[in-house]
Amino acid sequence: MERGVGAVIRISLPDDSPTTGGIRLSPKVYRGNHDIGNLATAPKVERKKDSEREELFVIIDANPLPDTYKKMPHQKWVDSRLAALPKHKRNLAGSLFNEFRQAHPDRRNDGRFYVKIIDYINNNNAPVKRRFVKKWQHHWFGDTPDNLGKRNLERGSMVFEQATCARCHNLGPGEKKLGPDLTEVTKRFRGSKLLQQIVKPSAEIHKDFQTQMILVDDGRLRTGLVIKETKDEVVLIPNLLKPDIVETIEKSSIEERNTADVSTMPAGLLDTFSVEEILDLVAYIQSVGSRTKGIETK
Ligand code: HEC
Repeated sequence: MERGVGAVIRISLPDDSPTTGGIRLSPKVYRGNHDIGNLATAPKVERKKDSEREELFVIIDANPLPDTYKKMPHQKWVDSRLAALPKHKRNLAGSLFNEFRQAHPDRRNDGRFYVKIIDYINNNNAPVKRRFVKKWQHHWFGDTPDNLGKRNLERGSMVFEQATCARCHNLGPGEKKLGPDLTEVTKRFRGSKLLQQIVKPSAEIHKDFQTQMILVDDGRLRTGLVIKETKDEVVLIPNLLKPDIVETIEKSSIEERNTADVSTMPAGLLDTFSVEEILDLVAYIQSVGSRTKGIETK
C-alpha cells in the first residue's frame, strides 16, 4: 500500500447477534505488514511471534545440555561461560532468552534453556539474523527522543554493537575509525536531531566526512569517502561496509571534483530494531557523550 492511501478495515459481525440489542465487537489486532504511514507519531511496535525465531528456539532446544554443565552447579556454569563470551554474544544470549520467555511464559524459569542458548551461541559463529521491523523515519518518533527520561542504557549499548555502529564510530578516544567520534557529535545533536542523523544520514553531513564525487579523464565517476590525500593522489573508500576496498586516483587524471549530498553512512541500520531499542540507543549515545564532558547524565 502506498503511503497516504487509506486502509479499508472490514469488521465482520457475528451471525448471531445478541438479543439484548447491543453488538459486542471483540478487539482485532492488525498483524499485516503494510506500511500504514504516519498515523501515529510514536508508533508502538508489536513484537510479532516470529516463525524464524521460533525455528531457532526449536533447534536450540533439540541440543543436549553440554557435558561440562552436568559437572558444575548451574550458576557457576552460566557465570563462567558468559564471562568467556565476547560482549555482543553475551548480550545476544540475554536478549534471546528474554524473547523466549516472552513467547513461552510457561517456561519463564527454564534456566536449562538459557544454558542451551549460551552453549549454542558459543558454538555457532553465524550471527542470528534479525528480523525487519520498520523502515524508520525520524519524525514518527515525534519529540519522544527529546524527553527520554530513564532508559535501559545496557540495551542501548547492545544496539550500538548489533547495529554495527561500533564498526565506524568511537564513543570517546580510541583507534581511528571511518566515521566521526559520536561523543563529539552529541555536542551538536541531541534527542530528535541526533536520531534524525542516524535514521537519515544524509540530512546533514559532517563537514570532515563529505562524500566526494570525482570525475576521472577516462569518463568514470568515482564516489566515496576520501581517507588520504597527497600532492599526487587521492585515496577513497567507495563503500564503507567494505573498507578494505580502496581506490587510488592520480590527481593528474581528475577532471572534476565535487562533494555529494549523500552520506557514506549506510541508511536503514535501525530497521530491525524496535522503538524501545532505538530510544535506548539514543539515550546510550547521549549518556556516554555527557560522561566524557563531565556533565551529569539524566
Ligand atoms: C559503515 C560505516 C558507518 C556505520 C556502520 C555507521 N556510521 Fe554513522 N556515520 C558514518 C560516517 C562516514 C558519517 C559521516 C557522514 C555524515 O555525517 O553523514 C557518519 C555520521 C553519523 C552521525 C552524524 C554525524 C554528524 O556530525 O553529522 C551520527 C549521529 C551517526 N553517524 C551515528 C551512527 C549510529 C548510531 C550508527 C549505528 C546505528 C552508525 N552511525 C553507523 C559511518 C557509519
